[in-house]
Amino acid sequence: MDTVTTVEAVRTRAQQWRAAGLRIAFVPTMGNLHAGHTSLLAAARYRGDRVIASIFVNPLQFGPSEDYTAYPRTLLEDQQLLQEARCDLLFAPGVTDMYPHGGDQRTLVVVRGLSDILCGRFRPGHFDGVATVVAKLFGIVAPDVAVFGEKDYQQLLVVRHMTLDLALPVDIVGAPTVRAPDGLALSSRNRYLSAEERTRAAVIHQSLSQAVAALYDGDTDHAALERAGSLMLERAGMIVDYFAIRNAADLTEPNAACSDLVVLTAVRLGRARLIDNLRTHRP
Ligand code: PAF
Repeated sequence: MDTVTTVEAVRTRAQQWRAAGLRIAFVPTMGNLHAGHTSLLAAARYRGDRVIASIFVNPLQFGPSEDYTAYPRTLLEDQQLLQEARCDLLFAPGVTDMYPHGGDQRTLVVVRGLSDILCGRFRPGHFDGVATVVAKLFGIVAPDVAVFGEKDYQQLLVVRHMTLDLALPVDIVGAPTVRAPDGLALSSRNRYLSAEERTRAAVIHQSLSQAVAALYDGDTDHAALERAGSLMLERAGMIVDYFAIRNAADLTEPNAACSDLVVLTAVRLGRARLIDNLRTHRP
């Protein structure tokens, strides 16, 4: 697997593959890759003749008091994992490759309505940064298909809507969340947890499962289920940003007729802010 860092180099390679009639699958990441990313790469491998991954810790999607500087950067290990996952090309640009005009980026992609709710309320501007960099990466790589993790469910919907609204010719694929044996969703931010916090973090999945089981049993009192979920997390020593039952299609508040639901939560535990979700169908 080759690693390239410039826009021109990745564009040239992708153009050659496209000209040869090969289908390009793309996995954008911020690096510090783990088994969750391996499953995104497997989904990409399945859907494309060539797989391109990117590693770019995108400053535009971090708030001023967030972990941009501390975000783990592990390029050598990441290259090893990508090689093993049979990735064909890694695009690992520097900040000046992606933002040559520094902080003077004049164009922002804003997916209204979806970006200022749930995580967007607690991370203002985050999804504008995500939508902007993903649109830009799509412009550079021009993939046929791109794979995103369902763990970042709100991000997946933001990217889907952005792609649809801008008529970008990219199929967006969501890949299932990969979990540790105790249910904790794999995330680069899990490494911020102490051993004791890591044990308690299993409650996140338990709280979501409890709500999903109740919804499946026909419980329609969403407010009570949300309170019960939050309480369970607070009792495990977490600060709950939100615990919400939403319409899986657009994250609006569901009415009793809505059957495709998602339960989402974001908590702070020690130095980490962790998110997770579970989808369910109301019978
Ligand atoms: O999910 C991520 O790692 C990032 O938000 C993404 C999609 C690579 C954009 O920077």
